[in-house]
Amino acid sequence: MAGVMIIVLLCLSAGTMLGVQGEDPYLFFTWNVTYGTRSPLGVPQQVILINNQFPGPNINSTSNNNIVLNVFNNLDEPFLLTWSGVQQRKNSWQDGVLGTNCPILPGTNFTYHFQVKDQIGSYFYYPTTGMHRAVGGFGGLRINSRLLIPVPYADPEDDYTVILNDWHTKSHTALQKLLDSGRSLARPDGVLINGKNAQGDGKDEPLFTMKPGKTYKYRICNAGLKNTLNFRIQGHTMKLVEMEGSHVVQNVYESLDVHVGQCFSVLVTSNQAPKDYYMVASTRFNKQVLTAKGIIRYTNGKGPASPELPEAPVGWAWSLNQFRSFRWNLTASAARPNPQGSYHYGSINITRTIKLVNSASREGGKLRYALNGVSHVDPETPLKIAEYYGLADKVFKYNTIQDMPSTKIGKVVSQPNVLNQTFRNFVEIIFENHEKSMQSYHLDGYSFFAVAIEPGTWTPEKRKNYNLLDAVSRTTIQVFPKSWAAILLTFDNAGMWNVRSEMWERAYLGQQLYVSVLSPELSLRDEYNIPDNALLCGKVKGLPKPKPYTI
Ligand SMILES: *[C@@H]1O[C@H](CO)[C@@H](O)[C@H](O)[C@H]1NC(C)=O
Ligand SMILES: *[C@@H]1O[C@H](CO)[C@@H](O)[C@H](O)[C@H]1NC(C)=O
Ligand SMILES: *[C@@H]1O[C@H](CO)[C@@H](O)[C@H](O)[C@H]1NC(C)=O
Ligand SMILES: *[C@@H]1O[C@H](CO)[C@@H](O)[C@H](O)[C@H]1NC(C)=O
Ligand SMILES: *[C@@H]1O[C@H](CO)[C@@H](O)[C@H](O)[C@H]1NC(C)=O
Ligand SMILES: *[C@@H]1O[C@H](CO)[C@@H](O)[C@H](O)[C@H]1NC(C)=O
Repeated sequence: MAGVMIIVLLCLSAGTMLGVQGEDPYLFFTWNVTYGTRSPLGVPQQVILINNQFPGPNINSTSNNNIVLNVFNNLDEPFLLTWSGVQQRKNSWQDGVLGTNCPILPGTNFTYHFQVKDQIGSYFYYPTTGMHRAVGGFGGLRINSRLLIPVPYADPEDDYTVILNDWHTKSHTALQKLLDSGRSLARPDGVLINGKNAQGDGKDEPLFTMKPGKTYKYRICNAGLKNTLNFRIQGHTMKLVEMEGSHVVQNVYESLDVHVGQCFSVLVTSNQAPKDYYMVASTRFNKQVLTAKGIIRYTNGKGPASPELPEAPVGWAWSLNQFRSFRWNLTASAARPNPQGSYHYGSINITRTIKLVNSASREGGKLRYALNGVSHVDPETPLKIAEYYGLADKVFKYNTIQDMPSTKIGKVVSQPNVLNQTFRNFVEIIFENHEKSMQSYHLDGYSFFAVAIEPGTWTPEKRKNYNLLDAVSRTTIQVFPKSWAAILLTFDNAGMWNVRSEMWERAYLGQQLYVSVLSPELSLRDEYNIPDNALLCGKVKGLPKPKPYTI
């Protein structure tokens, strides 16, 4: 692991000021973010490397580990990374989005400090600045179980990370120019599995090897920009065990639709004839299907993978049915997202319902995407920092959108989009999609219960169809064309949290917002202070730090 320094030690110093806890093991990383040239689709192109790796290195952590990760930005543009799905408890300071963090300027560094909690599962990180995500800077992030928390399956023989992307051969600056000039992204040029696509010419190196008769864990994430990717393995089924931090009922699947931003952990047993097999990822819901292959080799294998690839499902009804087959394992002792309270989420009264309707429009020739008529713009001073310094009213307005917008979205306004949430309220959020395109939404800082996805428009009567028993608690939810999705959650994690479209051109062009969750006491028990090393920019540059929160 050249260039990565990992030291595990017991630290007894007061880490709370940094948003990390003392006495739990520390993992230290130093990451050098640079441009480099790779040819993932056979054409040399500029990509973003972390310590010379594309995709970036895996973070392998265990619950309660403190992560100290120093990022050196050697690009020529400001840069930030987010830890998608990792709940930063009390700590939106480490979320790495432009509403909470000043970007790391070229030639400078910033050290993230955060603690991973009992969210045993598979996650990934990626850049949130500009269109950087289109060309690299992403990688896998695991949270393993501490030995005292059993997981509901036997230890696998080995543990593999599979990062999927739809892929463009254009540079991120070219893609950004396209979007800035009012156009939308063209179709991708291909699909990648861990930054590669096997050619099938006999020269491909295997991505993974399996000993015969053993069971392996594969952690599959869609880090792409726009396309749902169907994932499958020739001749093998996959037993789903976990998604985004929840252990699920262990159904067996021939293929999985991985919507943008989602992660799954599956078990695969090497019980077939010893040879090579392709894993396959292909785009969904488009006439023109793009496919990537990667080789899995049996260690005792003789012979190439069959060129005949397993077929992908067709249409989105299949995908909706698959969503409905996902159930939380109520008896598994690990991976409880909210041990404090919302476990019996079906019996908690909803205190607020927010319907978020996405729209696309052209304002002055510029393409903008919006939620309830507001297309989010990041102010120069990050929202969280402005709020902490008491300058919120100089930077943004709270609650500029309505909780229940009228069906017709009128004129779209481009401005910061911030919703004020009451601490610990139990809230229902409906994502309603009147467009013909697929949507996928992610909420930072929380897991939510994904209780329903249905075609049509939402009405309060639809609540009787919610899964109020064993819906999976997760962090990303897809919304099919002309459909809606409902989630339930308790806003018990103080901070400024991003709700964004995972469709990256949509997020980039405004289809996102922030929820501000302040604890009434502004106490250290509920939220950490701004870290000492926080980068400052905009209106707070050079200002003295406000009085810190106390217990
Ligand atoms: C990061 O990589 C660049 C380009 O290879 C190199 O010039 C620089 O010294 C590296 N920085 C660190 C901190 O390793
Ligand atoms: C990841 O961490 C776990 C637990 O700390 C360890 O058992 C495992 O060997 C590590 N895996 C890799 C690939 O480093
Ligand atoms: C930048 O890196 C140095 C170590 O090289 C470290 O001491 C410093 O705290 C880092 N800066 C930030 C803002 O984290
Ligand atoms: C749920 O977890 C329990 C406890 O670990 C396990 O025994 C059981 O097989 C799991 N149930 C299903 C349906 O996957
Ligand atoms: C929920 O609301 C119902 C009806 O308004 C009420 O009877 C019940 O006590 C409430 N439950 C809780 C836990 O507040
Ligand atoms: C946010 O909501 C809380 C509770 O509803 C309220 O007390 C507070 O004044 C609101 N803050 C802003 C800035 O709107």
